Amino acid sequence: MASKLFLAKKADVPINRFLKISLEGGREILLFNQNGDFFALDNACPHMGGPLSEGEYNPPCITCPWHGWQFDITNGTNITGLGEDASVISILVDDESIYLEE
Ligand code: FES
Repeated sequence: MASKLFLAKKADVPINRFLKISLEGGREILLFNQNGDFFALDNACPHMGGPLSEGEYNPPCITCPWHGWQFDITNGTNITGLGEDASVISILVDDESIYLEE
C-alpha cells in the first residue's frame, strides 16, 4: 500500500510562491502553489544540479540560476529545449496538507 510523508500545510505556501523542503538524506523538494494548485519538483536542476530554489519563479516557469534553463513547474518540461526536464515529485494534497507520495 502506498504511504505518504507529511511535507507542509497548504497555508504555508502562499499563492504563486514556493517552499523548499529538506528531507532526511539531503534531498530537497520545492512545493509550488500556483493559483491554488500544488506541484512539486526536485530542487536539483537536471543539467548540473543547480539549486532551482535560488532561481526566479514567474508562474508557470522557474529559471535555474546557474545557466538559465527554464522549467514549467506543472510538469517539469524544459521550455528552453536545451536538455532534460526537471524531476516531478508525486505529491498528495488533502484539505489542509501536502504529502510526499512514497
Ligand atoms: S545547472 Fe541548471 S541550467 Fe545548468
